Amino acid sequence: MKLLVTGGAGFIGSNLCRKYLERGDEVHIIDNLSTGKFENISDLLEKYPDRLSFDEDSILNDKLVMKLTSLADVVIHLAAAVGVKYIINNPLSAMETNIIGTENVVRGAKVFKKKIFIASSSEVYGDQEKAPLYEEDSVIFGPSVKLRWSYAASKLVDEFLALSYYRTLDIPVVICRFFNIIGPKQTGEYGMVVPRFVDQALKNNPLLVYGDGNQTRTFTYIEDVLDAIMNMMENEKCVGQIINIGGTEEIKILDLAKKVIQLSGSSSSIELVPYEKVYGKDFDDMKRRVPSLEKARKLLDFNPKYGLDDSLKIIIDSMK
Ligand SMILES: NC(=O)c1ccc[n+]([C@@H]2O[C@H](COP(=O)([O-])OP(=O)(O)OC[C@H]3O[C@@H](n4cnc5c(N)ncnc54)[C@H](O)[C@@H]3O)[C@@H](O)[C@H]2O)c1
Repeated sequence: MKLLVTGGAGFIGSNLCRKYLERGDEVHIIDNLSTGKFENISDLLEKYPDRLSFDEDSILNDKLVMKLTSLADVVIHLAAAVGVKYIINNPLSAMETNIIGTENVVRGAKVFKKKIFIASSSEVYGDQEKAPLYEEDSVIFGPSVKLRWSYAASKLVDEFLALSYYRTLDIPVVICRFFNIIGPKQTGEYGMVVPRFVDQALKNNPLLVYGDGNQTRTFTYIEDVLDAIMNMMENEKCVGQIINIGGTEEIKILDLAKKVIQLSGSSSSIELVPYEKVYGKDFDDMKRRVPSLEKARKLLDFNPKYGLDDSLKIIIDSMK
């Protein structure tokens, strides 16, 4: 099978490309390396010179996106402006990439009638404390002057766009709402909490917990997510569906910090930092973010194999 992977030099993308290449597939990556890194794929390019190719370019280049889509059997669309910190600092690129860029990619799939995977996010549920969150739940956004909501809104537009193509033109789309995914190759530079904490712990620096630390999240290890994506692309029942993929262990961010310190044998302390100091006034945080995995279990038999402690230990070892 020939895959076009947008955002393939990023955290999820580079790990996914590795899995498809190991399976014997052919992969082409388009990535502008805005948050992704060439080092994430350089070993793969060396190992699979005949089956992996790479364009350092943007999905805003619609002509290239069309050409690459025409050559692929399926499209995995992961390219996006990602990370709260990145979105707040680059609001325009977030809007352009996540809306215009996704439109280019989805339009390519429409023109050449290719199956397409759309990476959405738990952020689309917005500002709510309800748990667990079901795919059919209403969404609740803060005001548009708070730019952090632009990411959620852009991902919601992507979902509407993909569903419209599916319902009106029968384009096979699969939409996945990722909750926090963690694993090697993820960077803490753009606000991702686990690599940031592990980096601080390994340097014996204070772990900076934003807010009061009582906000909770679940975390899913990357290998569980890769299997889920590959299953979704093979399973006809997933076409036209929105599916949550996330973890099962809800944890307070303050407790996560304590766990990282303990598992890494660090002598770090913990410091609480007000959100405003990190993100400015344009920020709201969600208190809880717990997925319902009912649909993923029913359609994919999704059952994460990696617990939080095991995942953290692997990440700590990989970052040492
Ligand atoms: N990691 C998570 O926990 C998580 C959670 C929810 C949703 N997601 C979604 O999963 C996808 C992958 O995220 P990730 O965690 O691997 O982040 P990432 O930043 O590592 O990957 C995104 C990739 O897209 C590339 N990119 C950005 N703008 C581009 C453009 N205009 N043209 C081409 N490439 C571009 C980046 O360089 C990067 O390599 C994203 O769509 C993200 O919104 C991830």
